[in-house]
Amino acid sequence: MTRSQPLCPVADLPPGTTRKFVFTHEGIRREGFAANVRGHLVAYENACRHIPMPLDDDNDFFTTDGEFFICRTHGAIYEPLNGRCIHGPCGGLSLKSLRVVEVQGELWIVLPPEPEESTTPVE
Ligand code: FES
Repeated sequence: MTRSQPLCPVADLPPGTTRKFVFTHEGIRREGFAANVRGHLVAYENACRHIPMPLDDDNDFFTTDGEFFICRTHGAIYEPLNGRCIHGPCGGLSLKSLRVVEVQGELWIVLPPEPEESTTPVE
């Protein structure tokens, strides 16, 4: 089943900015971030593909030139539009993306479906 949660008005996420959020998946609390990349809205789980640590120190996902995302721990560089690591210790892997949708000016995060609860037949 598809799940979603509201994040913020789209107007509150202008180009070059990011916003973090918390979500759960597979019963685990996780952090994500949404970004406006030159007018394109994207979202990813905030977990580096080298070691699953947050990319940022304080909501500072972009490189200083604003062209890429950077992991503050060991410097992995990610393409912001597709999440692919292009430099650093996780080369070739990609950030886990989350779908975003805009509904009447609000940005929503579409979360991955939860696995079906297992059912055990009663004997
Ligand atoms: S934890 Fe991100 S590059 Fe090492």
